Amino acid sequence: MFRDQPPRIAVLAAAGALVAAGAVAVAAGSPARADATLAQLAAARGKYVGSATDNPELSDAPYVRILTSEFGQLTPGNAQKWETVEPSQGQFNYGPADTVVDLARSHGLAVRGHTLVWHSQLPGWVGNVPAAQLLGVMRNHIANEAGHFRGRVIHWDVVNEAFEENGTRRQSVFQQRIGDGYIAEAFRAARAADPDVKLYYNDYNIEGINAKSDAVYAMVRAFKQQGVPIDGVGMQAHLVLGQVPGTLQQNIQRFADLGVDVALTELDIRMRLPRDDTKDRQQAADYGAVTRACVAVSRCVGITLWDYTDKYSWIPSFFPGEGAALPWDEALVRKPVVYDAIATALGGTPGPTPTATTPPPTGSGCTASYRVTQQWSNGFIGEVTVRNTGGAALTGWTVRWTSAAGQTITNLWNGTLSTSGSSITVRNADYNGSIASGGSTTFGFQATHTGTNPTPANITCSSP
Ligand code: XIL
Repeated sequence: MFRDQPPRIAVLAAAGALVAAGAVAVAAGSPARADATLAQLAAARGKYVGSATDNPELSDAPYVRILTSEFGQLTPGNAQKWETVEPSQGQFNYGPADTVVDLARSHGLAVRGHTLVWHSQLPGWVGNVPAAQLLGVMRNHIANEAGHFRGRVIHWDVVNEAFEENGTRRQSVFQQRIGDGYIAEAFRAARAADPDVKLYYNDYNIEGINAKSDAVYAMVRAFKQQGVPIDGVGMQAHLVLGQVPGTLQQNIQRFADLGVDVALTELDIRMRLPRDDTKDRQQAADYGAVTRACVAVSRCVGITLWDYTDKYSWIPSFFPGEGAALPWDEALVRKPVVYDAIATALGGTPGPTPTATTPPPTGSGCTASYRVTQQWSNGFIGEVTVRNTGGAALTGWTVRWTSAAGQTITNLWNGTLSTSGSSITVRNADYNGSIASGGSTTFGFQATHTGTNPTPANITCSSP
């Protein structure tokens, strides 16, 4: 069983350096320790696991503590929608969204922007804009909002929910007054406002292969052929208990094969209430299946829960009689089987922490290789592989490098971090100091950066 709460792994030390206190373990290719967070398990696979959140929830301190420690990415649940951002024409309000984005950035979390153009949560004035002016109004909205968040979000859901179940275009005000071209125009406007953010089309009921996902697929293929700037497809994944589409992985793969990324952007799995053990087990199987489908496709970049706790789920108010859709219950307590299913699918190994073994003979040389597995505007995930190049087993290792200006490690696992100015020292954790001759181990970290995020030139490894 996974431990109930992950340890807070970073404490603020004197001189502003972040020092890992009680590093947690996770490694691609080796069993992950039971106390790794979902963010860490996902990061070890080059992906993120995130959560939606909304402004009223941010006064709930225990909620925020889990939000910012367990997840690597946030999506504002409402704060970036048109009705909030531009409630009357030309008057932009970024207060609520900035609060969420600032919270994320202060914890080194990535942000998905959601959403620029959508028929819902659209203020009434947009419906009164004359047809000849609506394209300009839409472009202005996108330019302003994507411009405001430029460099602070990794993805934008540029257009949300533009298709009907049968694959025809939804007859939104944008579709009716601008015509079929409005989606491509929205993507072009978003690219003009932020050249670096990944631009997504986002929708529900496109997780499996069906008429609706076929229509989105055809659109993405056409955009790719025409040079319309699209980088990803968001599958919302508001799923129903026991009904994970059997074609999920195949569908993710076919989009990936078009040359776009895929994100599961709003995952929840609802059930008819009340919850019981049988339903929890089914839900665990469902969450596991969804997570495995993403893990199996390298271009599936991450999974976002549509909030992580039933306490703040949208489901009960939109689907009467249904709920219990998330891995944490209304008391902010993890549902053990559900959480474990996700963690296991991400490569975590439930069970007790491994204990140290008798030290083998002292070894000699080691090398360290550094790579960035994931990067967004102001943060990245780094991974360092320590290899025993000597003839005897190592009993411990120390890796040192100098961080570039603007790089700050916020969180490190599978090792013990100490920093002094820009000098980084990582020693083995108590469970991964022993490496057989020719063997290797990996540690990882999450960090913020401000500039070009260079790879260190001077990384060294030594052993006692
Ligand atoms: C939901 C929010 O969670 C609710 O708080 C709000 O009242 C309605 O919208 N698809 C989307 C999301 O793209 O923006 C929706 O979020 C859920 C369905």
